[in-house]
Amino acid sequence: MQNFEQFLVDNLPISKSIHPTYEDALHDMLVAGGKRFRPALLLGVVSSYNPLMIEGAWHAAYAIELLHTYSLIHDDLPAMDDSPLRRGKPTLHVVYDETTAILVGDALNTYSFEVLSSAPFSDYIRVKLIRELAQNGGLNGMVLGQAIDCYFENKPLKVEDIKTLHTNKTAKLIAASLKMGAIIVGKEELGEKLYDFGIKLGVLFQIQDDILDVTQSSEEAGKLTGNDEDKNSFVTILGLEESIIQANDLADELTQEMDSFDESLQSNLSPLLTKYINRHK
Ligand code: IPE
Ligand code: IPE
Ligand code: MG
Ligand code: MG
Ligand code: MG
Repeated sequence: MQNFEQFLVDNLPISKSIHPTYEDALHDMLVAGGKRFRPALLLGVVSSYNPLMIEGAWHAAYAIELLHTYSLIHDDLPAMDDSPLRRGKPTLHVVYDETTAILVGDALNTYSFEVLSSAPFSDYIRVKLIRELAQNGGLNGMVLGQAIDCYFENKPLKVEDIKTLHTNKTAKLIAASLKMGAIIVGKEELGEKLYDFGIKLGVLFQIQDDILDVTQSSEEAGKLTGNDEDKNSFVTILGLEESIIQANDLADELTQEMDSFDESLQSNLSPLLTKYINRHK
């Protein structure tokens, strides 16, 4: 992902305006690091079926990371999770101010669609990618999940409703990352299969995130942990032990499902998936 990291920096079209901090703030969270899990999923699918398209695919991977980074900036705002630390750095509303953090989030959100609209694919594929990212990252996807997450603070939900919450706020964007890879290489049927797999992977990813909120220090996580007490996290509702059991079951299910993937897909995705599927252990 070394080259991809450079690509992230090179493709943020910022030139100095009269605003004293806007450009720095735009840059800060995007280059602060993070696991780049969603880009890696998309790029893993593309390199399995058409490695020649990988540099073109960076544009789509970049768009997903832009939208994800915006979601994190807004997630940390005082009106949402009120967190001072992200990707090992103080959050934007702490370093600058709340207005700047809100607007940087807005800018990364819209820029993600601009990037997709000029990615080096046919118009047909570009429109499909834009729709996929919008449907999963927007009003019936991540944004809905975040709305439910914040509205139901201190209002316990049933476990099936928490799964719906996790599906929306986290799993849909992860599923879309895999599916967008399949769209780029023209494998729409595979895209549907990977989307369903990605939803399960994404629910597991969020259950693990809930587990890590109570098992990791803020320093280890690079973000404020112990911050889910008022939330409908798996751990607050089911307890740590039961959450680990459910995460293990889901991890086993996903590991088995991976056996049905084409060999090239297995060999490209396995190292990444194995690492993340087991990260709660
Ligand atoms: C954090 O996502 C928010 C969740 C959906 C759990 P990541 O754990 O992928 O955060 P980064 O990108 O590595 O910072
Ligand atoms: C956030 O979930 C999911 C997003 C859409 C950003 P969390 O609130 O649990 O994510 P962290 O723990 O702050 O990264
Ligand atoms: Mg949150
Ligand atoms: Mg949060
Ligand atoms: Mg969390």
